Amino acid sequence: MSRNITFSMIKPCAISRNFTGDIIQSILDDGFKIIAMKMVWLSPEQAGEFYEIHKERPFYEDLVKFMSSAPIIAAILEKENAVEDFRILIGNTDPAKAASGTIRALFGTDIQQNAIHGSDSDENASREANFFFSSLEIYH
Ligand code: CMP
Repeated sequence: MSRNITFSMIKPCAISRNFTGDIIQSILDDGFKIIAMKMVWLSPEQAGEFYEIHKERPFYEDLVKFMSSAPIIAAILEKENAVEDFRILIGNTDPAKAASGTIRALFGTDIQQNAIHGSDSDENASREANFFFSSLEIYH
């Protein structure tokens, strides 16, 4: 398979608990290349638009509040089989159910404050990467 991309966000909970360095190191150790990265403080409107797909879910409003409460770190990551490999690296959405050693098991607090986001498909990886980055900010 050719190299492709996934999109990731380190969430406010992980940044405030000083896990940013450990998380970035584990992403690099797993063979991902960071081809774009920046810190962004999302407005509630922007967080709502990013998570629009979850609009009807009961946790949507709280999720938007949380994701706009402090800055996040957005990144585009490149690797063969990027989407699937990254989901293995971060583990289950719920840190309590995530395999040991995964980023969410190590650094997540609960199902909402789960340390990190990873795209769930190639299509969403492109959509999410384009939400945050212009072509001038991506370095292959
Ligand atoms: P993420 O991978 O960023 O995608 C959607 C987010 O919604 C998820 O991580 C969690 O932060 C949050 N989420 C998903 N399911 C729940 C839930 N049952 N309760 C609260 N938050 C959730």
